Order: sequence, then C-alpha cells, then structure tokens
Amino acid sequence: MGTADGTAVLLSTKANAMADWAEALRALDPTLEIRLFPDAGDPAAIEAAVVWTEHDMAELRRYPNLKLIVSMGAGVDHLLRPPGPPPGVPVARLVDERLTQGMTEWVLLNVLRFHRQDPEYRAQQAARVWRELPAPDTAARRVGILGLGALGAAAARALRGLGFPVMGWSRRPKALEGIECFHGAEGLSAMLPRTDILVCLLPLTPQTRGIVGRDLLQSLPRGAYVINGARGGHVVDADLLHALDTGQVAGAALDVFEPEPLPADHPYWSHPKVFVTPHAASITIPRSAAPQVVENIHRVRAGRPLINLVDLAAGY
Ligand code: GLV
Repeated sequence: MGTADGTAVLLSTKANAMADWAEALRALDPTLEIRLFPDAGDPAAIEAAVVWTEHDMAELRRYPNLKLIVSMGAGVDHLLRPPGPPPGVPVARLVDERLTQGMTEWVLLNVLRFHRQDPEYRAQQAARVWRELPAPDTAARRVGILGLGALGAAAARALRGLGFPVMGWSRRPKALEGIECFHGAEGLSAMLPRTDILVCLLPLTPQTRGIVGRDLLQSLPRGAYVINGARGGHVVDADLLHALDTGQVAGAALDVFEPEPLPADHPYWSHPKVFVTPHAASITIPRSAAPQVVENIHRVRAGRPLINLVDLAAGY
C-alpha cells in the first residue's frame, strides 16, 4: 500500500505496550501499516496517531496528513493541555469494557475497604486485638460519585447493586435508574453534605482541576472517605492531607497523582489513612480496545462520523 499520502498508524507509548497495540491492530486489519514512535518514517505517511500521556502534542504537528488522534486511555487531558492537538484533527478516546470493569473493581475494592472497616481491622491485627466493631449498614452508607461518564455510571450501578444508596454528580443533567443524580454547582452543594464516601471519576478539565479541595472537603460529613481514580489534578493535596489530619476525612484511596510517579518523599506514601496505588486502577488492554481504534481509522477514511469522539471545547 502506498504510504506517502497518509495511510500509516503511529503508535506512541512504552515499548512493550506498543508491541501489544501493534499486534492487536494488525490482527484486526492486516493491511494497516504501523510505525512505532520515534520511528515514524516519512511524516507525510502518518494518517492516525494512537498515543499515550508521554507524547508531546507539538510533535504531532510534524505530520501534514494526520486525520485522527486516539488516546490510549479513557482520559484525554494529556492531549488537550497546551499546545493541544493540531488544529482540525479530531481526537477520540477509549470507551472500553475491560477498562470500565477494571475501574469498577478498583472503586468497589476501596468503597468496601472503608465500609467494612478494613483499615481498623488491619490495625487491630497488627496489635493482635480481637474485637468486633459495630456492624456496617450498607443501606445507610451513602456514596456520592463525581462524574457520570462511562466509568462513573458503571461504578454507580455496581455500588447500587450491592445495596448502597448512590448519588452521582455531573456537569450536565443526567438520569440513571436507581441513582440520585445532581448537576451543576447547586447540585454539588446538595450532594456533598450527604456523601459518606466520595468517589472522583471526573475528566480533568480547567473546571474540575482542584475540585477536591478545602471547600468540597469541608462540605462532606465529618469522617467521610475520599476515593480518587480520575486524575491527580482533581485533588488539592495539601487540603486533603489537612482534612485527613483533622479527622474531617477518615481515609483516602488514591490511584492518581500530580506528578506521577508520586515522589518518594510525598506524605501520602506513609500516611496511615491513605491507600496508594500507582495509577493502576484500570489499565488499557490493547486487544480489548483495538476494535474501536480500527473502526475509527476506517471511518476517517470513509468520511463517516467517529465513535468516542472528544468534545474539544468541553475537554472530555
Ligand atoms: C487512564 O488513566 C486512562 O485515562 O485510561
């Protein structure tokens, strides 16, 4: 197949993941010509770029025939920060069952960890203390989810299925069966005082950066828990640490940080009330995510509307 007119796919992430992506894409469409960054070859040959956080958006301006950019994850904040994608090139993200399932599991793990007093029981075990704590009441433990996109909605349904009263907040009004939905600034003020466990699954945009800060944390009932599986930039670390140290927040489970990796001297690492995972809540499986990428490459070629298209103005 000729390449000078732009029919090649550029992959850019860690080397081992690139190999998996290449294999998964080729298995679906053996005619795809795949280039592994930085070996892009003739820049005019690149038609689509499938990239992860490390890739510099300024670099993508080198490809005059680029017609599609795909994020290798659910989030696209890394693609939208300045200078952003080259003008006129559409950006798609992944909406993937395995990715969603992974996040749902991580959220359930942490909601149940706090709900079932696991930190307290671990501390008792360390001290060889045999003592029953009061039985947790699922129907009375209210979970509030920030963000009702693919990940937030799936987590909300799973928690509802376990019997938790679940509320969800989104920028725009949404309706989800069995979930009490809130939106806008007023909705957030209404939801927070009733939220015993707060789960953040928002996209990171200029509007949501720092949302889990002092005001939000103070609006939660005393002794609430905070779970962040979204982006480190959602949380104001100093405010969360203060809330943990004063008892306003009883525990936090954090998968994402700013910067990543979390620096070795960061207080979260050794904080007795903080549970850290290394941005591993949900990891993209190329084999699972590849079909929608190939579908979008075919759509771009045919001039058909893309799936999982990002609204560049909204930022997600
Ligand atoms: C992971 O952080 C993702 O955006 O999928």
